[in-house]
Amino acid sequence: MDGAVGSKQPAAGGRRVGLVLAAGMGTRMRSALSKVLHPLLGRVMVDYPVSAAQEAGLDVVVVVHNQEAAVRAALAPRGVAFARQEAPRGTGDAVRSALADLPETGVVVVMAGDAPLFRAETLRRLLEAHGDKLATVLTAVVAAPGSYGRLVRGPDGAPKRIVEARECSPEERAITEINTGTYAFDLAWLRGVIETLPVHGDTGELYLTDVIEAAAAEGRCGVVVHGDVDEVMGVNDRVALAAARKALQERILTAHAYAGVTFEDAARVVVEAGVRLGTDVTVGPDVALRGSTVVASGAQIGQGCVITDSVVEEGALLRPYCVLEGARVGAGCTVGPFARLRPETVLDAGAQVGNFVELKKARVEAGAKVPHLSYVGDARVGAGANVGAGTITCNYDGFSKHHTDIGAGAFIGSNSALVAPVRVGEGAIVGAGSVITQDVPADAIVTARGALRVAEGAAARFRAARKAKKKGGGA
Ligand code: UD1
Ligand code: CA
Repeated sequence: MDGAVGSKQPAAGGRRVGLVLAAGMGTRMRSALSKVLHPLLGRVMVDYPVSAAQEAGLDVVVVVHNQEAAVRAALAPRGVAFARQEAPRGTGDAVRSALADLPETGVVVVMAGDAPLFRAETLRRLLEAHGDKLATVLTAVVAAPGSYGRLVRGPDGAPKRIVEARECSPEERAITEINTGTYAFDLAWLRGVIETLPVHGDTGELYLTDVIEAAAAEGRCGVVVHGDVDEVMGVNDRVALAAARKALQERILTAHAYAGVTFEDAARVVVEAGVRLGTDVTVGPDVALRGSTVVASGAQIGQGCVITDSVVEEGALLRPYCVLEGARVGAGCTVGPFARLRPETVLDAGAQVGNFVELKKARVEAGAKVPHLSYVGDARVGAGANVGAGTITCNYDGFSKHHTDIGAGAFIGSNSALVAPVRVGEGAIVGAGSVITQDVPADAIVTARGALRVAEGAAARFRAARKAKKKGGGA
């Protein structure tokens, strides 16, 4: 293995570690992507059980095989250790593959990488109930037990064994208490019993579930029946993935709502797991807030905005249908409708960006305005400057990008082209329709366009001539 789980000092009462099984193929997803790597509200599926285990205070080992490099890369920020399963021959084999990487003694909480809804609190309760038993299994009573393993209990109610759905007798199939795939085990005991697991004829697999029978036979198997049926859901196919996403989204939105966020239509928004929202934020319908987006107190996000990895500061107003990626919108700014803020765009406090404006690597300083129909890229718009409708920074010459600098208080007339690299000095005025190809000094007025010519009466003469020609042609 790699990582440090085996080397840490035992905690008082024995080591407690988490083991997340993520080596399987996930065939039922019908996907080129390993099941545990499927995205779920901004994180990959396996990230959820891993972070729940870490939140419960466990050092985590993840069993990998299928798309191993990608799983390792996705979990790198979590700082977990990895164990390799040589071939995915069942959950029993997966645990056996990891034993060399776990402490000799103590308690291991085993979780499935395809169960994204478990809370840390539930793992803590499982550990508490486990005490010094050999095994404790987390179960739930569900209306449709489907393909889950069933917990078989004796007449006295004591747990006896777990039987997989495909191996159930008709009576067993009717059992509604299912195995959630989350367990606590005594490590020293598990080491011995895992070597005795039978191979299942139909799949050639070793089932982790078979260790339950051994613990039950010694009268030292615990069961924790979990009430929250949504939380225990395992994802085997994309129908379950959609259900998990829905449950997770509801959980995220509920937490934000209790923390002071208004959703105008909570059924029509996407708020990913890593998003942070302040109090009195309002979110319109059809909004998507993704990645590491942060929206500060009092900001309003209008209908249809899609915001990824961006920061929206206090009291900013995003009118409908803005698209932001890697941007920062300062306090009290107004943006949109229909504005696009591309990466490295920064709006300082009180800046205004209007409809059909595209900004890229642009800093719009305090109080400056880009109100309509502009492209401003690789540029600075100084404080209080006004960039007229239709202004374009020509930042690309076909080879490389160049910078445009607009000084504070400058006024750029409508439909101007600023050919970068170029600077417009503070307080300068650029006449509408200008093509600016050289620096403009501060406080200058510059106009760069074809001279205006007026031919008095020419239109009347032109019309008369056309009329005469038409008459002559018809005769
Ligand atoms: C498993 C349980 C079932 C339980 C259900 C809960 C077994 C035999 N069955 O069934 O009782 O109701 O979970 O969701 O354990 N994995 C590996 N290596 C392998 C096989 C699987 O790491 O060789 C991983 C998978 O990546 C997955 C997890 O273990 O994350 C569970 O495997 P899966 O095949 O989905 O088990 P289920 O059929 O759902
Ligand atoms: Ca599963």
